[in-house]
Amino acid sequence: PTFQNPGGITLTAPRRSEVIELCRRAGVLVVEDNPYGLLSFTGEPVRAMRADAADDVVYLGSFSKTLAPGLRVGWALAPPAVTARLVLAAESAILSQSMFTQLAVERYLATQPWTEQVKAFREMYQERRDAMLDALDEAMPAGASWTRPDGGFFVWLTLPDGVNTKAMLPRAIAARVAYVPGVGFYADGSGGISMRLSYCYPSPERIREGVGRLSAVVRDELALRDTFGSHPSRP
Ligand SMILES: Cc1ncc(COP(=O)(O)O)c(C=O)c1O
Repeated sequence: PTFQNPGGITLTAPRRSEVIELCRRAGVLVVEDNPYGLLSFTGEPVRAMRADAADDVVYLGSFSKTLAPGLRVGWALAPPAVTARLVLAAESAILSQSMFTQLAVERYLATQPWTEQVKAFREMYQERRDAMLDALDEAMPAGASWTRPDGGFFVWLTLPDGVNTKAMLPRAIAARVAYVPGVGFYADGSGGISMRLSYCYPSPERIREGVGRLSAVVRDELALRDTFGSHPSRP
């Protein structure tokens, strides 16, 4: 719900309550998958859904975005009966977690100024988010629209009608820029005119260069569309 992948958007407080209420009535547990929650650019972290509904929510946290993805360490906070079953399921799937990486994380949290490190990440990602939004404002053709994330890693870009971002991807790669086509995030084959852009890894300079290359590819694609007609955005 918070700085979501791929949209970069955040579920509002009233909608959080509505989701919990609907699921409570239907006897359905909510999974709150929140790996980006600490990476807020506006100061205070967004209040977790679990904070107001501990019996209804299984909360998932991860050290992948604030320490190192390669450690493969995360955590779950769940109602006790669910926790017991999660432990059984984990044991049957993977026998045993790596004790070494968990102890490394435990030492890191106990001995290092990790909140300062998260703050440094927030500032770094905010600078990259700003670079991406400025570059999009500057370079994208009319009719394109995009989200303005308040945290996390992603911008969701939607192109004018008649362009298919999956079909366009090889041309983008030939121009040495890449994205994830929107269709990859839908079960029903929609999302064909959208794409996920990530600003977490490249420097602001590389982000500006990448957005510039991408908009050149998009402009070529729109010129093709105008000449030869629309590409179907759904299969
Ligand atoms: C929403 C969301 N949940 C979970 C994950 C996976 O995190 P982990 O590396 O802890 O498996 C990601 C990673 O991209 C993510 O975006």
